[in-house]
Amino acid sequence: MPRKPPDSSRDSFALDVARGLGSAPKFLDPKYFYDAAGSELFELITEQPEYYQTRTEAELLQRSAPALSSILGDDVSVVELGSGSSAKTTILLDSFALSQDALHYVPIDISPTMLRKTADRLSARYPKLSVTPIASPYESGLARASTLVAENERAANQMLVLFLGSSIGNMEPDETVHFLKGIRSHLESKDAFLIGFDLQKDVETLNAAYNDAAGVTVRFNRNVLVRINRELGGTFEVERFAHHAFYDEETGRIEMHLRSDGDQIVHIEACGTSFELAAGETIHTENSYKYTRPIIDQLADDAGFRVREVFTDDKDWFSLALFIPR
Ligand code: TRP
Repeated sequence: MPRKPPDSSRDSFALDVARGLGSAPKFLDPKYFYDAAGSELFELITEQPEYYQTRTEAELLQRSAPALSSILGDDVSVVELGSGSSAKTTILLDSFALSQDALHYVPIDISPTMLRKTADRLSARYPKLSVTPIASPYESGLARASTLVAENERAANQMLVLFLGSSIGNMEPDETVHFLKGIRSHLESKDAFLIGFDLQKDVETLNAAYNDAAGVTVRFNRNVLVRINRELGGTFEVERFAHHAFYDEETGRIEMHLRSDGDQIVHIEACGTSFELAAGETIHTENSYKYTRPIIDQLADDAGFRVREVFTDDKDWFSLALFIPR
């Protein structure tokens, strides 16, 4: 029988899964949430009434757009890391498009299907917008974006880089500084970096945001198991894993887990092995760090930026921080 052609993305998925489920405690890398179904579920999360982040950030973008234009001038190109559906970005682009003759937007995302949809939608919306989508991880994408922005003769070569949705909160603290330094290395002194940070607040509000009543976050969390079953030949009985998400004040983060309802054994064909789960044992699937102003200042400082401005809502639930290279 002919061997299947090697599939390196499947192989590295299988390796990561074997490593995570072979560890104690067990974990899975959150990047595997985002297949087509996971990206759709994620969009649905952002529409849930308990998930205040997206609405609050949208309102902040609306409010801060004039201030951003007066700080940066009205000739910027916008580069976005993890653009997803670009729904919120439209608010900024609307505002910039009013004062600029030409506007260059470079969305960078890991999901090529999402990118293509977004690019088509935006090109149809704005005649003066040129969209150059890049399907790639953040840092290599930004390296390409800065070259593209510099070469675009019609548009501005000052870059405003966006990293919204408190996606930064899904990185571990040591990764965060490393990531920020990497971004810093692709920026010039005239450029700017706008980051969405979710803020520390009462535990009830935080817990509710990750335990929506409609159960969309449950489906999102379990989707990684569905994906392992489909792509790696896994035998997860998905309903036997409960969604468990809670805020830990000590670390200032939401932890998301999948908790086994009993002793069970899961076989994963692509890993060539089985994994045992005890009753109540969890698989840690994601963290979401929550910030304070001193933490934000410290991060900027550690990575070679200064905080030019922090926009917050009336309840101090979310913030947009404008980082400028130092
Ligand atoms: N970064 C956002 C947050 O942590 C969005 C997000 C990422 C999210 N993964 C999630 C939201 C899982 C809910 C569940 O809030």
